[in-house]
Amino acid sequence: MSALQDQYGRTFRTLRVSLLQHCNLGCVYCVAGEDDLKQANAGKESLPVDGLLAMIGRLRDRLPLDTVRLTGGEPLLYPGLTALIRGIRAAGIGAVRMTTNGFLLERMAVGLKEAGLEALNISLDAVDEDVFFRMSRRHSVTRIIKGVDAAIAAGLRVKINAVMMKGINDCQLLPLLEFAFSRGITVRFLEVMAMGHLHDTAGRYLVSQEEILRTIGGHYRIVPEERAASATARYWTTDAGHRFGIIANESEPFCRDCDRLRLDSSGHIYGCLSSNQPITLQPHETAAEWDIKLREALGQKQALKFVGSDLSMLRIGG
Ligand code: 5AD
Repeated sequence: MSALQDQYGRTFRTLRVSLLQHCNLGCVYCVAGEDDLKQANAGKESLPVDGLLAMIGRLRDRLPLDTVRLTGGEPLLYPGLTALIRGIRAAGIGAVRMTTNGFLLERMAVGLKEAGLEALNISLDAVDEDVFFRMSRRHSVTRIIKGVDAAIAAGLRVKINAVMMKGINDCQLLPLLEFAFSRGITVRFLEVMAMGHLHDTAGRYLVSQEEILRTIGGHYRIVPEERAASATARYWTTDAGHRFGIIANESEPFCRDCDRLRLDSSGHIYGCLSSNQPITLQPHETAAEWDIKLREALGQKQALKFVGSDLSMLRIGG
């Protein structure tokens, strides 16, 4: 095992794999409109299951990886998803998790659990159908809620991710909280990040951690928890024991102990969301060559703060 570490003691423990670049929703923070989505959906071919497993296996040999998170685009659209999950588990990686929009989840949840998936983050930015449409350009809230319930019933650990955008879905803060509490699951509110087409304009839509806490604090008595090492979210608990989180990328950046490495659907790695310089790992390269590139990826990490990126999450994975 290489002792890959930077000056802050950071290494790569979590690998986030973007399985493909396309998506069946058209969320406003990912794409500027239907044309933008069409262009992304016409994007490059993804690596097949055996190609991905070979890359993940080699990365596991070089890094202290304990978790793989599957993302996209929308990972439920990837053919061979359950075979991939089984393969990653068989390679000795303990935790396989996924971030999904939940649109196809209702009929896939049981199979994913059986394949060895442990946990799911489901993106749900509104529980009201009209507001959901404004965020995602699709009418699918009822269907996604069925997916959430199916995942819970299948025994998957479920969290909800909700990106808060001023004037678009900020009215959904309390309804989303109540929805999650009613299911006994955790919702995490995300400050919008300056990515992709929002690179220069995200600030206009920012609902800050402070504003989120003020709104929730007006309705619930809440107590903060200690932040866990390398966690993206901070969590609070209500008197009734319900838990929610905030991923405050803007107000409270969490770069200092970031342990994430990203692999995209064409086999490029990235050490940081702020970096849009893909590093290409080739199967025929030696271990020493991979180590040099992994070091380069580690060097992409910011010291303190996310600085924005031209890449949309659709490309690089959340
Ligand atoms: N800012 C914050 N969150 C984002 N996501 C996608 N784009 C952005 C952005 N610009 C979220 C998705 C999902 C996760 C993959 O990242 O909603 O929850």
